[in-house]
This record gives sequence, C-alpha cells and structure tokens, in this order.
Amino acid sequence: LARGVTGPDLAGRHVVISAGGTREPLDPVRFLGNRSSGKQGYALARTAVARGARVTLIEANTGLPDPAGADVLRVGTAVQLREAVIEAAADADVVVMAAAVADFRPSDYAPGKIKKKDGQDAPVVSLVRNPDILAEVAAERSRPGQIVVGFAAETDDVLVNGREKLRRKGCDLLVVNEVGERKTFGSEENEAVVLAADGQETPVPYGPKEALADTVWDLVSGRFQPNSS
Ligand code: CTP
Ligand code: CA
Repeated sequence: LARGVTGPDLAGRHVVISAGGTREPLDPVRFLGNRSSGKQGYALARTAVARGARVTLIEANTGLPDPAGADVLRVGTAVQLREAVIEAAADADVVVMAAAVADFRPSDYAPGKIKKKDGQDAPVVSLVRNPDILAEVAAERSRPGQIVVGFAAETDDVLVNGREKLRRKGCDLLVVNEVGERKTFGSEENEAVVLAADGQETPVPYGPKEALADTVWDLVSGRFQPNSS
C-alpha cells in the first residue's frame, strides 16, 4: 500500500479521474493547448488503485503509459472530455477533475490547413467558450453523496482566488497550487493547499505528486457518507 495508508479505504468505490490537457483544433495540423503533463492525474489514479478503488482514468493528450489496474479512456478536446466524464460520473462515488480544460476553442475548424498568402493580413482566430465540466458535474451529482474534486493553478492571490473558485464551482474539495518555476507543470513534485467546502484547509508541503494524491484520498474518504457504499 502507498505510504501512510492504513487499509484499502477506497475498496468498493468507483473513482473517475481526468488528467492531462485538452487540445482544441484549429485545422488538421494545429491546436490550442496547455502545459499540463497529466502526472498529477496519473498519480491520483495509481494511488486510488493502491487504496482499492475501481478507477476510470480519462486522459487527454498525456502520452503517459496506462497505470496498472485502471480503465483508461482517451479524449482530445474539452467537448469530448465532457462527454466521457458525464457518462463515467453516472455511477461514480468520486469525480476528480485534474485535467487542464481549455476555456475556449476556435469557433471554426478549418478542414484544410490554413495557409499564409503574400499581401494578406494575418488571420484572426475567434474563440467560443467551452463547457465547464467541473461545475456541471458538481451541480448534477448523478449519485447521492458523490464527492467532486477540482484543481486550480493560480499565479496570484492563490488562496483568495481558490476560495472564490471553490464556491463558484460548487465542488467539495479544490486543490489549489501556485504556478511557479519548478512547481506543477511537468515536474514530479507539487505543493498545494486543499480547500474544502466545509472550510477545512489542508496545506500539503512540497513533495511527490503521490503524496498530494494520498492527501486528496484521505480527505475524500473522510467525507463518504457511511451508508453510501
Ligand atoms: N474545469 C472544467 N471545465 C472547464 C474549465 C475548468 O472542468 N471548462 C475544471 C478544471 O479541470 C479544474 C477546475 O475546473 O479542476 C479549475 O480550473 P481553472 O482553469 O482553474 O478554473 P476556471 O473556472 O477555468 O477559471 P480561470 O478563469 O481562472 O481559468
Ligand atoms: Ca481555466
């Protein structure tokens, strides 16, 4: 078992985890994307398997090898991720949105490669909003007692923004990390504060992404309704 775990406290639970970053195509060769590596989501998947859960991992563009013991679904865009998460959430005890979802996608997809032409202005890319998957899952709660967890990377006023985001999204837990040079993107380590809707705030010191994942599962398993298994 993972460090600090006393037993398979997620046995009999179905957890759905999204990981990676969505890519929003502009044309057949280009996309709008982000720097999410997917490593935190994969650490959540590995630790949840170790703690006895049935794990559905929905990954977007990570290129990482499948974690042993998890069911892995692959998606590309935010719209595809939404569809997969909503479907998997129907019988989930826990939904964790660790994926970085593009807030916008190009409003038009060019079926042929966009070419430059001499004497023409540079093209302007217009964008439309993507669905907010976390807010939708949190509002829906397709199963009674379902626990919904979000992630937020902030550069400024980390805790103030985090508390406001937790309320706005309506989730139970929000893992907030500060985006910095060696933290978060692509690294093996992370440092965060886990904010809970009930006001509990749990700082997690700089360390492996597995340690943060285990703290998330500790907080999740402490919030299960005793009769919901
Ligand atoms: N998220 C989501 N769907 C979106 C955008 C974000 O489900 N369209 C989820 C992310 O997976 C993450 C959480 O919401 O768990 C917070 O993402 P973040 O980008 O910090 O929040 P936003 O509401 O998009 O706010 P911001 O304007 O700061 O980007
Ligand atoms: Ca965002």
